[in-house]
Amino acid sequence: MRAIDGPGHGQSVSESVLALAGVRRGKVRDVYPLPEDATVPAGVGARLLLVATDRISAFDVVMPTPIAGKGRLLTRLSTFWLRFIEERGLCKTHLLSTDAGALADRCFVTGGTTREQLEGRITIARAARVIPIECVVRGYLEGSGWKEYRTSGSVCGVALPAGLEQCARLPEPIFTPATKEEMGKHDENVSFERASRLVGEGVMRRLRETSLAIYREAAAYALSRGIIIADTKFEFGVPVDGSGDGPILIDEALTPDSSRFWPVEGYRAGAAQRSFDKQYLREYLESLVAAGKWDKQPPGPELPESVVRATQKKYGEACDRLVG
Ligand SMILES: Nc1ncnc2c1ncn2[C@@H]1O[C@H](COP(=O)(O)OP(=O)(O)O)[C@@H](O)[C@H]1O
Ligand SMILES: [Mg+2]
Repeated sequence: MRAIDGPGHGQSVSESVLALAGVRRGKVRDVYPLPEDATVPAGVGARLLLVATDRISAFDVVMPTPIAGKGRLLTRLSTFWLRFIEERGLCKTHLLSTDAGALADRCFVTGGTTREQLEGRITIARAARVIPIECVVRGYLEGSGWKEYRTSGSVCGVALPAGLEQCARLPEPIFTPATKEEMGKHDENVSFERASRLVGEGVMRRLRETSLAIYREAAAYALSRGIIIADTKFEFGVPVDGSGDGPILIDEALTPDSSRFWPVEGYRAGAAQRSFDKQYLREYLESLVAAGKWDKQPPGPELPESVVRATQKKYGEACDRLVG
């Protein structure tokens, strides 16, 4: 599947096709190393081209049906946050440009993805050696954090007060790292000590402090726009461009793909919240599982038009509230 016309909602990009070698396809983004002559003007240092496609994943399985326009919304949101983070001096980021016009003609092939299709969905970024720890910050108790708390009273070794309900707001945001696993495997929550043994304690201290600081400022801003960022995940990497810079923020930041967004109206601890983004998708998939029609293993099922539309609407709404 390349670029296809979604029924009634414009052209989507499921998988990019460019004249650039060495693509690595993640669940959502296609990542290309960007040679110096691939941009105008020519670039210096090691750079990557990240293309946010319209793929969507749930339960770590990529669905065969694209959500047209999702890649653009994700890029708009992520770019907004990366700038927000830099402007406030919270952390350097990998963001260099989002201008598809900067790509040289030689990046494109006949029948492949066009410059127009790339507009609004690309990030030109500093290439980094990825630190293999997912830096998760939680301000509220849900998901794997809630699960762990119910059995042990703590999350990733962070002790929490007794008697917290599902989705409760935590007294303080907590840092709960996870190992970054290969495609298809689920990430695993680890203690701060275990993460430190893997990548070094000095590094982990710095990532913890930075992640918490970004979360605090971003969550306060989002709240003023009617969105609770219940939790989120950051990735960091050490630039390989010879700058000698320490860890910088890479990947996407503070999108519905990397975070739990809840509308502030209607928030009530004690039960699951309606989320902004994948709620319809997850409910649909769970209904298939309950009916014995899917087992949460790849391949994922084709999605009905109603789920595609509802999901598009939700991503758009999150984007409008935060950036609009
Ligand atoms: N600046 C960067 N340098 C190196 N790798 C990066 C950078 N930014 C993002 N990445 C990597 O690119 C990939 C983005 O694609 P994504 O679809 O999110 O993949 P995944 O399925 O691993 O989540 C991730 O593996 C991420 O670690
Ligand atoms: Mg990712």
